[in-house]
Parts: sequence; structure tokens; C-alpha cells
Amino acid sequence: MSPDGPAGTDGQFSRAAALLIVSKYVIAMTGAGMSVESGIPTFRGEAGLWARLGGPDPSQYQNLLADPAAYWKREIERSTDPYIVELRMAVSRAKPNPGHLALAHLEKSGLVRSVVTQNIDGLHQSAGSEAVIEVHGSRYRMRCLGCGNRTPREGLFLTRAPDPCALCGGLVKYDSVLFGEPVPRDVLETARAETDRADCVLVVGTSSTVRPAAGLPRIARANGARLIEVNPNATPLTNVCDVVVRSTAAAALPEIMRAVSLLSPAAREPAAPQT
Ligand code: APR
Repeated sequence: MSPDGPAGTDGQFSRAAALLIVSKYVIAMTGAGMSVESGIPTFRGEAGLWARLGGPDPSQYQNLLADPAAYWKREIERSTDPYIVELRMAVSRAKPNPGHLALAHLEKSGLVRSVVTQNIDGLHQSAGSEAVIEVHGSRYRMRCLGCGNRTPREGLFLTRAPDPCALCGGLVKYDSVLFGEPVPRDVLETARAETDRADCVLVVGTSSTVRPAAGLPRIARANGARLIEVNPNATPLTNVCDVVVRSTAAAALPEIMRAVSLLSPAAREPAAPQT
């Protein structure tokens, strides 16, 4: 076990690479673990935000619908909560890590078609990934609950409740999906379409516990797709994965990318990710 988690093995990297190469339509599915090496803590696990600062209010979405003014008043007041401050500062300082860069290179070399992410930090896009489906929204956007219109979010900390939607007058909130809030239909349909096309899913850094996202790799598998899991820890998905790379995203994904270029000279040699 290396200081920053299990090191993974060459066998695991090459088995993952071999599966990527023979597959026709690979998608990646990522969670909070993808961004740990960019300085953003996970939610669960002993080092996670919730273990240290307590979990979020599970009725936050219902509270917003019931009384938007009171919700936003609390939201603005609690923006100084240690949990909120730690997460927002970590996200604002975060840069893509070698794992994000490797996934972007695998997309450019045509081996990974899209990234379905539960993360709201935008690091896949900053790393150069283009086909990114943010099933839990983005910290960079606001969204209207009436018509779904998305607009840029002005800064990390709102000082007043957002104005009603300019298009339909509907209720506007952060684009990030709240607990109890349905995942917006458009992103869910796109994520599901990618899942149905995939014959291989590279699952990275997720506890595979929060649906509907957690159900997508299982749906792919039921369609006959192969699963590769990159995670320093076991998850409920581990025992149905074809390859398990017991390592971290930033350590394993560049190694898998290197194994791809060794195994398949035909695959365009992706440049080494600039850390
Ligand atoms: N590299 C890869 N995986 C890692 C790393 C790392 N460096 N460090 C931790 N992990 C793994 C953990 O083992 C765990 O399986 O990342 C996973 C993080 O799990 P969660 O904190 O549950 O994050 P996630 O699966 O993305 O949560 C899903 O739940 O709280 C909601 O909306 C939130 O999108 C989030 C969703």
C-alpha cells in the first residue's frame, strides 16, 4: 500500500487496457474519488466530508419547494458552515489531476467516448474532456425548475435569493442536484443513452451507492457490457466487475493509458499527461 493508497498492479492495468482496446464503445463513470487527488474530499468514508462535518439535510429539496425565501435565507446564512466553506474552497482551488488528464487523452484517442460524472466540479472539462454528462449538475450553473433553463452561476456564495427564471418566471436554484431532487430528465436520458450504447464501462472513484447514477453500470452489465472498477476500496459494484484496479484515479488511469499505448500501437500515442 503506497502512502496515498494501494498501488494497483501492472496486471490490473494491462487487463483494464486490454478490455478498453477490444471494446467498441467505452464510457467512463466517475464519482467524488476522481477528484480526491485534486484536493476535493469525498462525501463518504472515514476521510469524507460527512464523517467529519455531518451529512446534508435529506429534505433540502422539499424545503426549497415549500418555502423558497426561507430556503435561500438559510442557504445564505449557512454559507459560512465549515462543511460548505471547506468544500467550496477546495473546489475553487482544485485543478485537474493526472486521472482527469488521462481520461481526456483516452477520449482524444477515441478509446473513451464520454464521461458520465456525478461530480459538479467541472474538472473533467478543465482537463480537456468534451463529452461530459454531469448527472448531478454543475457548481458553475443555475437551473430553472420550471423550464430547465441553465445560466452561469455568479460566484460561489450568493448574497440574495436568485431572481425568477427570465424565460418562464420559474423557481431558479443551483444546478447541483439536491438530495430528494430528481436528476434533470435531459441529462438522465443522455446518460442512459450512453449507458445503453456502451460495451465497456470504466467506473472510477464512486461508492456506487447513489441512484440513479449507481444503477447505470448495472444496466450496462445487464446489456452485456464489461465493467472495470478503479477504486482503492471495494464497493457494492466490485463483485460484478470484470477487472478491478485497486488503486487511485490519479495513479491508475495514467498507467492504464500507458498500457493501452504499449498493447495497441495502433492507438494514437497519447502524450503523457502534464501534471
Ligand atoms: N481515487 C479513486 N477513488 C477514490 C479515491 C481516489 N484517490 N479516494 C477515494 N476513492 C473512492 C472511495 O473508495 C469511494 O468509493 O471514491 C468513492 C467516493 O464515494 P462517495 O464519497 O460516496 O462519492 P460518490 O460515489 O461520488 O457519491 C455519489 O452522492 O453525496 C452524493 O451527490 C453526491 O455525487 C455524490 C453522490
